[in-house]
Amino acid sequence: MDILDTIITRRSIRAYNNQIPEDSQIENILDAGRWAPSGLNNQPWRFMVIKDKTRKDGLARFSEYGGIIESAPMVLLVFMDKNTSYNRDKDLMAIGASIQNMLLYAHSQGLAACWLGEILNKKVEVSKFLKLSSNLELAAVVAYGYCDEGVKEGKRKMLKDLLIK
Ligand SMILES: Cc1cc2nc3c(=O)[nH]c(=O)nc-3n(C[C@H](O)[C@H](O)[C@H](O)COP(=O)(O)O)c2cc1C
Repeated sequence: MDILDTIITRRSIRAYNNQIPEDSQIENILDAGRWAPSGLNNQPWRFMVIKDKTRKDGLARFSEYGGIIESAPMVLLVFMDKNTSYNRDKDLMAIGASIQNMLLYAHSQGLAACWLGEILNKKVEVSKFLKLSSNLELAAVVAYGYCDEGVKEGKRKMLKDLLIK
């Protein structure tokens, strides 16, 4: 896929069938994530893969979008490692770049995904549930799987409305 095509045709997909992404695919997704740029190359992202249904359903309780987490055969939790962090704004931007790399790679491989941010309202509760060490701050949950819904048309503002003169 041409990279611009991959960027433009990627959509957030919120319902998945039962097919589980292969471990090699998951590793490639994480590779795409870890090759993102970061300020001072500090690589503040940390990743946790959850496929276990009980754990996934437990996590789902912390989000209004829990149904997406339940539907996905695999979810990826992305954290900021506060021990590595040097500038919160820049570190979160780098983590955003890492997440986008992973979304685009997944889409290029025919996988579906959805970035879930609403769960951050309960990030403290999620950390307790997962018994995470205090240096890890939840930055996003991303659901992955194979699409089981009609893909809607993407909508974006016109470029002319984004250009400041
Ligand atoms: C930071 C961020 C947080 C998001 N949080 C959620 C969320 O909690 N639930 C959800 O269903 N989609 C979430 N999304 C997906 C957006 O709704 C989606 O990207 C946007 O509507 C554009 O649609 P598209 O990704 O299909 O182009 C989030 C996306 C981003 C970048």
